[in-house]
Amino acid sequence: MLNKKVSDLINEQINKEFYSAYLYLDFANYYYDLGLDGFAKWYDVQAAEERDHAMKLRDYMVDNGEKVTLEAIDKPNPKLESADTPLKLGLEHERYVTALINKIYKTAIEVDDYRTMQFLDWYVKEQCEEEKNAEGLLKKYELFGHEAKGLYSIDKDLAARQ
Ligand code: FEO
Repeated sequence: MLNKKVSDLINEQINKEFYSAYLYLDFANYYYDLGLDGFAKWYDVQAAEERDHAMKLRDYMVDNGEKVTLEAIDKPNPKLESADTPLKLGLEHERYVTALINKIYKTAIEVDDYRTMQFLDWYVKEQCEEEKNAEGLLKKYELFGHEAKGLYSIDKDLAARQ
């Protein structure tokens, strides 16, 4: 069994990760609609990863004899008005997720829950990677994405990576 404060936060985080998957699926749909299939596929992959993040947390709860309570997932409602909006919102969202992971980690430290700290190390590392990817993509867009040729080339590059 885990400390109640820790298990409550992990339970909430499962929902947040599924929400992240939903949000990125929404971004992917937006890009498919624009005809930017490379960007869309990139966010399809991000959405699948978020689901994996949620499942990993679910498995950790189960492995520790904790009951998981699934809550309703919020409707993603971002205002997507230009091709760079999802990139900006995505970076903002990843920074928010990092703060959530840090909060769970801090709580685990406070209650001497070394097992959860060790488990969360993976997420700390993953968040570093996720922020780096989101920053990199936004930077690339800001450099080349504002003209058709540059945007096409980023889109092609993203499609080739999937
Ligand atoms: Fe599961 Fe992108 O954070």
